[in-house]
Amino acid sequence: MTKLAMFGGAPAVTRGTPQSSWPVVTDQDTEAVLGVMRSGRFTAASAGEQEIRSLEREWAERVGTAHCLAVANGTAALTIALAAAGVGRGYEVIVPALSFVGSALAPLHVGATPVFVDVHPSTFNLSPDHLAAAVSGRTAAVLPVHLHGLPADMDEILAFAGQRGLVVVEDVAQAPGVRYRGRITGSLGDLGALSLNVSKNLPTCGEGGLLTTGDPELADRAELLRQFGERLGGRGERPYVSHAPGWNAKINAIQAAFTRSQLTRFDEQRAVRDRNVTRLLARVAELPGFTAPEVPADREHGWHILRFRVRPEAFGLPESRASVLRAVTVRVMRAEGVPVSRYQTRPLSEQPIFADAGAPSRALDVSVTRAVVQDSFVLQRIHLNPGAGDLLERVAEAFSKVWEHRAVVANMADSHTPDRTPA
Ligand SMILES: Cc1ncc(COP(=O)(O)O)c(C=O)c1O
Repeated sequence: MTKLAMFGGAPAVTRGTPQSSWPVVTDQDTEAVLGVMRSGRFTAASAGEQEIRSLEREWAERVGTAHCLAVANGTAALTIALAAAGVGRGYEVIVPALSFVGSALAPLHVGATPVFVDVHPSTFNLSPDHLAAAVSGRTAAVLPVHLHGLPADMDEILAFAGQRGLVVVEDVAQAPGVRYRGRITGSLGDLGALSLNVSKNLPTCGEGGLLTTGDPELADRAELLRQFGERLGGRGERPYVSHAPGWNAKINAIQAAFTRSQLTRFDEQRAVRDRNVTRLLARVAELPGFTAPEVPADREHGWHILRFRVRPEAFGLPESRASVLRAVTVRVMRAEGVPVSRYQTRPLSEQPIFADAGAPSRALDVSVTRAVVQDSFVLQRIHLNPGAGDLLERVAEAFSKVWEHRAVVANMADSHTPDRTPA
């Protein structure tokens, strides 16, 4: 048995293991950005600007929607999507309790109240079973999040929303271009909001977002809201006339050019990543101490984040030690050279903005979300680079080492008090 790195053994990820960074920036990307610098056409308002429009056209074609608008970031895309659909003050928006806080802030930005519902214990996505209990006379929209890259149960959500006349805004931030029952994320709901943040699977060199819809009226309103409520697009002089309480939420041409260049490698990178991640997960799935993510047969997974739950009973521990076992496992894995971390430490309903600062919200029972954030840890970013295959083999070794040393790990978890154990 190899010794745990924590106790002086060689770490699973040794010094020589090639590390992987994300995004992969090539000369082609640099040239694309420099091309904009040389052209002097930095915004959509610059005469002859093509990068922004081309990105919008190319993404719309890929997703299969008639319209795509490039915006400043994913939160702006969500906010504009809700506002374009007429969701505002006095309305409620159903949001999964497990997500990045941006999913919950967008309803607040339009004056609506987020209503938090629980997620499924293994897909981590909004559980359609909870929708009926969440609906009130003020519900206007459902905001399913394709968390970690896995599309939510959209057909069930759309059927429910359709019966009650609710708008569906997909949060596609973590799952760009992922197939669900023959369709692509961002084309499933009334509107889709995507983040191009540099950490995302389809990145820009900073911040950006894309909003997709098949509805020309929603697209028209979203366009107004992106640009001070102004109607531009004509060749003549800017009229400086505002028709709606819009934001300034435009993207710039440098961001668009970078993403367009990344897009040329998107499919190839996805295919290799899928192979690398699937190999890692198959190895972890053999270890009874962890639950590795699974993919329902009717959809793909974009593998933006890999979440692993610990199984205390497999370590001979009671369920009540789940959180401590997770914390100990994280420490052991980090000593092995694997940068695991937590992603979300509480249900959205327990974020201080809602729990303490008095922002309006409503929450149903979110006990699954609470259990998941306590007993799971994630791998982020290092697996996105297609060159991460060898590194992920070492990550699998680290999981195996934890499992081989389960008696020691369980003993550490048993003797630690939860509040003394660092996350
Ligand atoms: C699920 C989810 N929704 C919304 C956002 C917000 O996107 P952005 O950071 O581009 O505003 C993010 C990413 O940060 C996210 O992961």
